[in-house]
Amino acid sequence: MIKLSPSILAADPLNLGKAAQMAHAAGCDELHFDVMDGHFVPNLTFGPHILKAMKKQTPDIVYDVHLMLTDPITFVDSYAEAGADIITVHAEANDWLDAARKIRALGLKAGVSLKPGTPADALMGCVQLFDRVLLMTVEPGFGGQKLMPDVLVKAKQLREMGFTGDIEADGGISPSNMTLLTEAGVEVLVMGTGFFKAEDPMAVAKAVHAL
Ligand code: DX5
Ligand code: ZN
Repeated sequence: MIKLSPSILAADPLNLGKAAQMAHAAGCDELHFDVMDGHFVPNLTFGPHILKAMKKQTPDIVYDVHLMLTDPITFVDSYAEAGADIITVHAEANDWLDAARKIRALGLKAGVSLKPGTPADALMGCVQLFDRVLLMTVEPGFGGQKLMPDVLVKAKQLREMGFTGDIEADGGISPSNMTLLTEAGVEVLVMGTGFFKAEDPMAVAKAVHAL
């Protein structure tokens, strides 16, 4: 079944707890938690204390933490302790392979994300270190951008490289283009604007699960 991971970047920042509860009530599989450092990307978002509070209030959803940080390894412990279930680091960041080993050593799932311009073969020889690959379908940093469909060819390339974990995509995804992603082999859809700004987010979750 195709999974939906709504990105709280698009939720009302004054009501993040309600957003998590709503995503859970809608039957979403995961909650996507975008962490930005103002350096790897030109934006800042949520620290581990926000994750900790959300996890305490809504524990029964998978927290899918996307670290857009130059030095992700520095924060792996903090987000693990705060309640992350999956931590994804970027292949363009420092020490990303050691960060992945650390994430797995903590008993969590490790993901790696590729910016639109980074080829799938940047993961050649190390795919076995990861439980998922997150394909960025926009330049990371901001919600509400337009999906870059050319990126999706990487899903097939990853399978040809022997990757057997989850393939997730992030950026510009909505019910209007989601079949483009699933037909390309994407199994986990991140939706910020497409879910939280939808007229009926519950219907969006239903539509994803009916795919
Ligand atoms: C962008 C983030 C995305 C963002 C997606 O850097 O990684 O997760 O929230 O937002 P939408 O779905 O609005 O493009
Ligand atoms: Zn993200």
